[in-house]
Amino acid sequence: MKVSIKRTGVLPSADVLVLGYFADMKPNDHPWWSTFPTPIRHLIRTRLGQPDLRMDWGNSYVLRSPTGRVKGALLLGLGKWPEWTGRRGRLLARHMVSLARQHRWRSMIMPIIHRRGVEVDETTIEQRTISYAMADYEFHRWRTAPPGGWPSVDRLTFLARETKPGWEAAIRRGFMIGQSINASRDLANTPGGKMTPTMLAAEARRVAKEARLTVKILSQPQMKRLGMGAILGVARGSSEEPKFIILEYHGGRKIQPPLAIIGKGVTFDSGGLNLKPEPAMSDMHLDMSGGAAAIGAMTAMAKLKLPLNAVALVPAVENMPSGSGYRPGDLLHSLSGKVIEIANTDAEGRVILADAITYAQKFFKPRMIVDVATLTGAAVVALGQRAIVMFTNRGDFEAEGRAIGETSGDYVWPLPMWEEYDSEVKGTFGDVANASKTRYGGAINGAKFLQQFVDPHTPWVHLDIAPTMTSIEGDYLTKGATGTGVRWLVELARRVADSRFKV
Ligand code: BES
Ligand code: MN
Ligand code: ZN
Repeated sequence: MKVSIKRTGVLPSADVLVLGYFADMKPNDHPWWSTFPTPIRHLIRTRLGQPDLRMDWGNSYVLRSPTGRVKGALLLGLGKWPEWTGRRGRLLARHMVSLARQHRWRSMIMPIIHRRGVEVDETTIEQRTISYAMADYEFHRWRTAPPGGWPSVDRLTFLARETKPGWEAAIRRGFMIGQSINASRDLANTPGGKMTPTMLAAEARRVAKEARLTVKILSQPQMKRLGMGAILGVARGSSEEPKFIILEYHGGRKIQPPLAIIGKGVTFDSGGLNLKPEPAMSDMHLDMSGGAAAIGAMTAMAKLKLPLNAVALVPAVENMPSGSGYRPGDLLHSLSGKVIEIANTDAEGRVILADAITYAQKFFKPRMIVDVATLTGAAVVALGQRAIVMFTNRGDFEAEGRAIGETSGDYVWPLPMWEEYDSEVKGTFGDVANASKTRYGGAINGAKFLQQFVDPHTPWVHLDIAPTMTSIEGDYLTKGATGTGVRWLVELARRVADSRFKV
């Protein structure tokens, strides 16, 4: 897909002309009205405002009217102007592309409309471009193409009477981020049998080479020597060897401590001996979405050449039941020295993250740690499927984290981390229990477990991305992984890099 903004006063040719209308606009209120082909003008004039053509938010109409330059028009209802938000802007962008895919339009033109002195800014252009790229993605690597090939939009051209010099660069940046998101979705969508820890490590190596990141992969014997008993314990039930993936990006001064991003890399989560019941197991090849997001964010940072240092750590394991698997009641000796008591083998994510957090602190002395993980079903219960649950050991990050969510489109919402919750993860025979005895507050308990391994002086954010792991209706994304977390991490990295976010 190629996105561009063209400075012109006339309509070039394309499969479809996309026209946004706010609910209160009359046909000729559209600033490009005089350029519309006559049959389209006629259709809009006779039907706009009729019950079958109302420009309420989310409505869309296809007006077929072949003329020389365009095959038809797509009318998009923008709703009431005062209710317009950037959130709607993202959805509109995806809706447009998803309609184009349905109708197999390959080229679209859209004249830009802006209202009452509202400037088109670079952030918006970048954000929209990310949405276009996300909406044009489909995971079809192992499916036979339909007749006519996979639908995809080749050209998306915006028309403006004036353009600004920064706009092209904003589109390029949006595209870089969009591609990193889609690459992360590819990793996640690949089923467990084709994305084992070994294969994920190989993919990380390939991606790292392309983006010029330093890569190091720890093997099982190396992890044994270091004493990473938590990761090794979870991996024991699988015949697939665990891997510990480390990617480094150097964009800052040499001595500057890195931002550490830790991603849960469970390539398949069966639950282990606490086997998941059907249908809970069905999407569990996506349980490495956090790891995929960490890798995606690193490549985006490198492509954007952000001036900071960052390291991604992805513990990659498969959680399987077997005679050699770890058991409920087992005591695992983690890298931190703390003994983890296994209350439930299905709470495996936090166990592998414990060693990764310790490793990050021990070997990188990071300025900040962010972990990204499809950690709990309870997070989905708490917020539904529209927001990432955020936890932090620095209360003042909550507002900042939410702001990063609004700017980036990876919406997050905080839950509390009060010390009263600490008792939920106290062990009986070990130091820390990986699951609470109560059925309540599961997302908080998961975060509390992780916090036991975080040095209290290190700023830390935990993103439970289980809620947004898969696309839902109204997202205008194809089925499967959403690439959740990448946008949030990239926006965080930007703010850390230019000291808007002080750590
Ligand atoms: N990977 C799952 C969490 C999950 C569930 C992610 C649904 C996405 C969608 C995680 O490893 C898990 O199984 N968590 C348990 C924890 C419990 C045993 C304390 C859960 O949420 O039930
Ligand atoms: Mn699990
Ligand atoms: Zn899991």
